[in-house]
Amino acid sequence: MTTSELDTATARQFPIERCPFGPPAEYATMRGEAPIVPIRLPSGRTVWAVTRHAEAQKLLTDPRISTDSSREGFPRMTETTDEDLNERVAEAHAGFFIDMDPPEHDVFRRMLISEFSVKRIRAMRPGIEKTAYDLADAMLCSPRSAGDRPADLVADFGLPLPSLVICQLLGVPYEDRELFQTRTRQMVDFTTEPEASFAAVMEIRAYIDGLVTRAEENPGDGLLGRLVRERRATGELAHDELVGMMFLLLVAGHETTANMLPLSVLTLLRHPDQLAELRADPELWPGAVEELMRYQSIVDWAAFDRMAVEDIPLGDQTIRAGDGVYVLGLAADRDERAFPEPDVFDIHRGARNHVAFGYGVHQCLGQNLARAELEIALRVLYERIPDLRAAADVEDLPFRYGAPIFGLAAFPVTW
Ligand code: HEM
Repeated sequence: MTTSELDTATARQFPIERCPFGPPAEYATMRGEAPIVPIRLPSGRTVWAVTRHAEAQKLLTDPRISTDSSREGFPRMTETTDEDLNERVAEAHAGFFIDMDPPEHDVFRRMLISEFSVKRIRAMRPGIEKTAYDLADAMLCSPRSAGDRPADLVADFGLPLPSLVICQLLGVPYEDRELFQTRTRQMVDFTTEPEASFAAVMEIRAYIDGLVTRAEENPGDGLLGRLVRERRATGELAHDELVGMMFLLLVAGHETTANMLPLSVLTLLRHPDQLAELRADPELWPGAVEELMRYQSIVDWAAFDRMAVEDIPLGDQTIRAGDGVYVLGLAADRDERAFPEPDVFDIHRGARNHVAFGYGVHQCLGQNLARAELEIALRVLYERIPDLRAAADVEDLPFRYGAPIFGLAAFPVTW
């Protein structure tokens, strides 16, 4: 029998608040029920939630699934009836290729692939390491930390590290971080009103527009300068498209890792035996980073909003053309069919098959960079501050439940 209609009556309300160290309990229940189950978004729309790992990978690689949010009927988490705002949002999307389908998407992605290759990121490692040592030393030596500990692992280490690295890579002045860091957090905060969220988008875009205009007159050494010389000057990229690409790289390049780093420290502090192993054998860090990614899966559904453009049969169900689909990355990464004892944190499990960086054509372009940053930053942090520990009870920490990308607003630490 084929159950093909989205059953609004049985749909759960979404999003369901996550727990600090794992998915909400409902995820396991939903995964047990079926690989796809109906859920109701705050916008009132009922969509399919994908709960299992195999089906998540299948759907994220299915060409009948679209990520283009400018399509009519695209399932948004929140809806605004302000037509003017909807139109302005659509206009601001030039070059923002995470929201595009092939072949349009591939044109932009292809221009950047070599910039994020394993080889290119390997060459960046000494610079990342120096940044990590500088930040750890500054934390140890700063009058703030020495005088009135605790330090804040988010403000003093987790956020500056990826911000410095991406600024340097792109050729964006780090002095301007206040603007793009605060606006990014407003933009990705689920509790922000659509108008305020759009205002934050436009402020970052306006800032980047200025950078691109200056680079068009006088290209510098970073990735922006290279794109101006090699793609803009040849007419391959329009001004607005270059702005959209830089916007995506700047936002995706700092906010995700900034959340992941402090959460990783917290997770390791809760598993002292495995932390001791890592400190004794630094070769274990790459495997540990994969497990941290799987275990936290911080993006969960936030980047995985999709719409079926044709009917897609899946097991004994069918996703109809026009149906919305949200892949629950965190549910997939805790699927016992893919990861035995999925709720156990185990740095030896070989977790690389997780979907925390996505899967398919949109799989994270910056994943080699993110892996290098996490591996180096965590190793350096524990090398410099071996007795690093939390300065507050875990239950009291300000987890960012209102943000689609999970993280900590602050993490007081001491040593
Ligand atoms: C821990 C850190 C990170 C996590 C968890 C993460 C997660 C993700 C995920 C889940 C996607 C897939 C989105 C989708 O399917 O729609 C994605 C895409 C993307 N990420 Fe990351 N990311 C991280 C770091 C980075 C970094 C450092 C960069 C550097 C610029 C970056 C740039 C991008 C870009 C450009 C895309 C869009 C790719 C495309 O559409 O082809 N990410 N990321």
